[in-house]
Amino acid sequence: MARGEFNSRIGTFATVAGSVVGLGNLWRFPYLAGENGGSAFLLVYLCVSLLVSLPVMLSELSIGRSQRCNAMRAFKNIAPGPWFLVGFLGVAAAYVITSFYMVVGGWSLEFLRASVVGEFSGKSSDEIKNYFDLFLAGGTGPTLQALVSLGISLVVVVLGVSKGIERFNKILMPALFVLILILVCNSLFCLPESWKGVTFLLKPDFEKISLQTVLTAMGQSFFSLSLGMGAMLTYGSYISSDRNLPKTALGIVTFDSLVAILSGMVIFPAVFSFGLEPTQGPTLLFNTMPNIFQQMPGGYGFSILFFLLVYFAAVTSQVSLLETVTAFASEELRMKRWKACLAIALTMSVTGSMCALSLSGHGWFEIGGKPLFDIFDSVSSNVMLPLGGFFIVLFAGWIMPSRVLQSQLTNSENESPSINYVVLRFLIRFVSPIFVALLFLTLIGVI
Ligand code: PHE
Repeated sequence: MARGEFNSRIGTFATVAGSVVGLGNLWRFPYLAGENGGSAFLLVYLCVSLLVSLPVMLSELSIGRSQRCNAMRAFKNIAPGPWFLVGFLGVAAAYVITSFYMVVGGWSLEFLRASVVGEFSGKSSDEIKNYFDLFLAGGTGPTLQALVSLGISLVVVVLGVSKGIERFNKILMPALFVLILILVCNSLFCLPESWKGVTFLLKPDFEKISLQTVLTAMGQSFFSLSLGMGAMLTYGSYISSDRNLPKTALGIVTFDSLVAILSGMVIFPAVFSFGLEPTQGPTLLFNTMPNIFQQMPGGYGFSILFFLLVYFAAVTSQVSLLETVTAFASEELRMKRWKACLAIALTMSVTGSMCALSLSGHGWFEIGGKPLFDIFDSVSSNVMLPLGGFFIVLFAGWIMPSRVLQSQLTNSENESPSINYVVLRFLIRFVSPIFVALLFLTLIGVI
């Protein structure tokens, strides 16, 4: 079966960036940075991203590009025995993440719709705060919006690797970058207390840095860079053999961090200028921001731009998740891409709806009193991704023949290895697996 390939360097970058830039950047990073020492956290985050996450990303891209197949088969091709389970775990994680991620994608669609029709205008701050809770409790709205969000990514994935996924990202990623720059300028230059927000985000507070902070930074970096579950591996399998993987990966890590910092510069100046609480987690995006726009000059337009930005970020990540499962199903079950994708999306629409309904407060789809949405969220980020990342980097460093790793990282086989390669290989074999193992053991409470 002919496999797709990304056509251009820009297209490759935009597509990988589309996967990594998501809700992890827009909401989670600013919140964590604000809470954990501002720019001191940022410094730790950058170090961890370079020393621990970059090697995992290079491992995934190398495994994928050397085998040119889905995540499970890639492991099977290289090594016999149970290693294929690592790929299978990744595909399973992609399935689980899509099921709750599509729900959040649906929220941003709903807020986009509400912004366009002026739903929030004239509402008091309490009424706006209730809007999100009532929307969740309704059940039907969140489910339908989640299905629309899934449907859009379904169309993109069915259109194919280059005609669908690459082209879609090539349009949406530059648009996302322009949107975020407009919003940053507005926050920095047009709001009364913008410096307070910037100070909250960037003032270094080294006393807040502890081992726990380092681990928090690592978990965030993993999620934000879409690592540990085969998405980068699958995208790697579509990257043409003359692209420079270390350069691409370094560019992606830089871009991902930049977007994370910029979104902090959008959100915090606004939060401080309108006297809202900066440390309120997920509700910060969906509950607080409409309040801000309501009180802000030009708020109607900025609200639309903001939720458009959130939706672009969410849907491009969702596409990479759906593609990871689709590549697996179409290659392993020997189905046509569109049939495999449709079948997967149908089953996801069931689990996704269950996740959406589990937040309605009616006790539907709760296990032990916990909504399925929360369970999927924590099991995937706390267990599946670190576990997957650990085995992936171990596999690339110790199991995959070193000439394969070298040829992927240097694009040549015979040359005596350059210093860059020697450093990267050391990070892949030693630094990264030890840190990831530490993170995992801490997350599951062993340390
Ligand atoms: N990286 C995405 C974000 O920052 C989330 C994601 C995780 C996407 C894993 C794909 C795979 O939101």
